[in-house]
Amino acid sequence: MNFPDYRPRRLRKTETLRRMVAETVLSVDDLILPLFVAYGTNVKKPISSMPGHFQLSVDLIIEEAREIEALGIPGVILFGIPETKDELGSSANDPKGPVQEAIRAIKKVAPKLCVITDVCMCEYTSHGHCGIIKNEAGIVTVDNDKTLELLQKEALTHAEAGADMVAPSDMMDGRVGAIRTALDSKGFSDIPIMAYAAKYASAYYGPFREAAESTPSSGDRRSYQMDAANTDEAIREVSLDIAEGADIVMVKPALPYLDIIRRIKDDFDYPIAAYNVSGEYSMIKAAEEKGWIDGERVMMETLLSIKRAGADMILTYFAKDAARVLAHGRK
Ligand code: PBG
Ligand code: ZN
Repeated sequence: MNFPDYRPRRLRKTETLRRMVAETVLSVDDLILPLFVAYGTNVKKPISSMPGHFQLSVDLIIEEAREIEALGIPGVILFGIPETKDELGSSANDPKGPVQEAIRAIKKVAPKLCVITDVCMCEYTSHGHCGIIKNEAGIVTVDNDKTLELLQKEALTHAEAGADMVAPSDMMDGRVGAIRTALDSKGFSDIPIMAYAAKYASAYYGPFREAAESTPSSGDRRSYQMDAANTDEAIREVSLDIAEGADIVMVKPALPYLDIIRRIKDDFDYPIAAYNVSGEYSMIKAAEEKGWIDGERVMMETLLSIKRAGADMILTYFAKDAARVLAHGRK
């Protein structure tokens, strides 16, 4: 059909028609909110590069969890800021650590909320790397296989505290299988793993590292996180994680990697999560504060684009704002 027989504008005439022919729908069910749990009590420390977000202590997370549940957001993912850090990230598997305590507290007040935990060492190591480091002739690298043992322990403390799902984000080889084995051996075979499968070494993580106080003190993460140039490698990473027992595979960041989300959606029949990361959030907030963009519209368009690319769920700092817009319409 050609013009003038076919006129695409006919179906764009009214709000109702546009709703009826919309191919992609963003729902509150798609949203997962990241939370930063701090050691201590009565801590509400603003994260300056992420307006609207705070490091919260467990006592204050309780109120937050009630609000999140009331907004209809189905899940949260927890990151911890521990009291102490050391070379081995020992505090990661403290059964009384901030994440472990927050899981218990949230499950008490909002039992239906899906509590996911980020499993990684970088928030707990003094050097800020996502694993144990070894120094061989002056060259510092992360020791893959030693790190696996620590990740197993960390994931177990999360499961024991009542986590509904664990999400390894370290990008060590074999960690999904290692965590699956550890969980199964302790009777947690029903706890799903959301694998940060295609996680790129990205400058978009900048504000998060302020939030989680996890900037590597030397070097960078390029020997374990993926190179931005690669697509086929993402397919291999996803294949490995699924073979090792991942239930959900994640692409991270989201916006600069929408092509990766789409390719994984086309190649695998598995649920896909996309992480709309801190830098993606901060850019929109900053431009909004300057009055350069309509932040709310850009937020909704951004989240819809991630969904359209093929994500089944989105981890996003916009979760509460988006849930309000979805419930009450735009301002
Ligand atoms: C920890 C982790 C990071 C993020 C999630 N888990 C940071 C990193 O790898 O440096 C980034 C999240 C964000 O930027 O919002 N490995
Ligand atoms: Zn890490």
